[in-house]
Amino acid sequence: MLQGKEIILGVTGGIAAYKAVELLRLLTKAGAGVHVIMTASATEFVTPLTFQTLSMNPVSTSLFNMISEREIGHISLADRADLFIIAPATANVIGKLANGIADDMLTTTVMATKAPVLVAPAMNVNMYQNPIYRENEAKLKRHGYRFVEPAKGMLACGWEGEGKLQEPQVIFEEAVAALTRQDLAGEHVLITAGPTREELDPVRFISNHSSGKMGYAIARAARRRGATVTLVTGPTCLAEPCGVETIQVVSAEEMRQAVMAAFPASTMIIKAAAVSDYRPVARAMAKIKKTAGTLTLELEKNPDILSELGQIKGEKVLIGFAAETDDLMGNAAKKLAAKNVDMIVANDIGAEGAGFNVDTNIVKLLFRDGSVEDVPLMGKQELADLLLDRAVKLKS
Ligand code: CTP
Repeated sequence: MLQGKEIILGVTGGIAAYKAVELLRLLTKAGAGVHVIMTASATEFVTPLTFQTLSMNPVSTSLFNMISEREIGHISLADRADLFIIAPATANVIGKLANGIADDMLTTTVMATKAPVLVAPAMNVNMYQNPIYRENEAKLKRHGYRFVEPAKGMLACGWEGEGKLQEPQVIFEEAVAALTRQDLAGEHVLITAGPTREELDPVRFISNHSSGKMGYAIARAARRRGATVTLVTGPTCLAEPCGVETIQVVSAEEMRQAVMAAFPASTMIIKAAAVSDYRPVARAMAKIKKTAGTLTLELEKNPDILSELGQIKGEKVLIGFAAETDDLMGNAAKKLAAKNVDMIVANDIGAEGAGFNVDTNIVKLLFRDGSVEDVPLMGKQELADLLLDRAVKLKS
């Protein structure tokens, strides 16, 4: 995802410096080449060796030994970078940057770079609210610096409030977004994911094997590409994607209500959820006890959310999924027409590497004009981007 990207990670002296190690891991795992620059005080918290070992690149800590090199160290690093991240960024370094002070390796390199700069502040809550700090942050924002707003919580200094360094995963997502073409800026993508559960009694439910992975991957990709994203999800084990409005639901009826509420503001709707088609006619108030004979359940139909959306879609792009075990193309084509969607993602859930609970998928895309696109086996995150590419095309 970040293959071929060069990132400079500036680490300044705050107790949260240890979290920069985890951020470095996320960046390198995603394929980025990372060069770490530490301020002198950062080295009091974490050793340069830790960053050097994990980045497999020398760590810069001093301005002067780099200048003695043939290439002027900070200029060559600044020129090469696709993105500059400062995490954690203290009030001190933000103050220096806002006022043009370049007195160490980190600040001189930031000053010399033309790459986008992402700043993740971490400081005491009173420092964070100090009007001088606020002015400095506002000034840097006016000059195009991006900020990852700090989290609220228990701070190392004992105070509670805003000023905690954001989680590495959140900073990572912002970094990926900063390096991703924002072709979905202005779009509001509504995505459904996961299974629904239809309760029989206080302890039992009817559901299916959907893991939610596909829908969550689409939500993550859409957000990285600049969309406003609403994810309506049934119960899954997945972490809520960063920067995505996530609405947790349980039953098909709850999913329907959440989808209908979000529908008017949305411009693209992608229905990856595996909705239970039926629910018990009545939910027992007490646990159903076993008896000597067989048990017959009476089920009634759930609303077909996608079909309802098909009736009212207007100019919005509407994409559905079809999970099939046989006659993939025939069944998928029927759903495309019956539900009035712009594209169906047909999923042969019996095929190896496809369907529920795996990280890959093999699909066929069916369009209104009768055309079909064969998509080979690929990771769900990669497929998510491909589906969004097609959604963008359908819009134009
Ligand atoms: N869907 C929906 N509401 C339902 C059932 C399905 O919105 N009650 C949506 C799914 O999110 C998916 C598409 O319709 O995008 C197709 O779902 P699928 O389960 O493959 O098909 P069904 O319409 O339920 O038909 P069948 O179960 O007979 O294959």
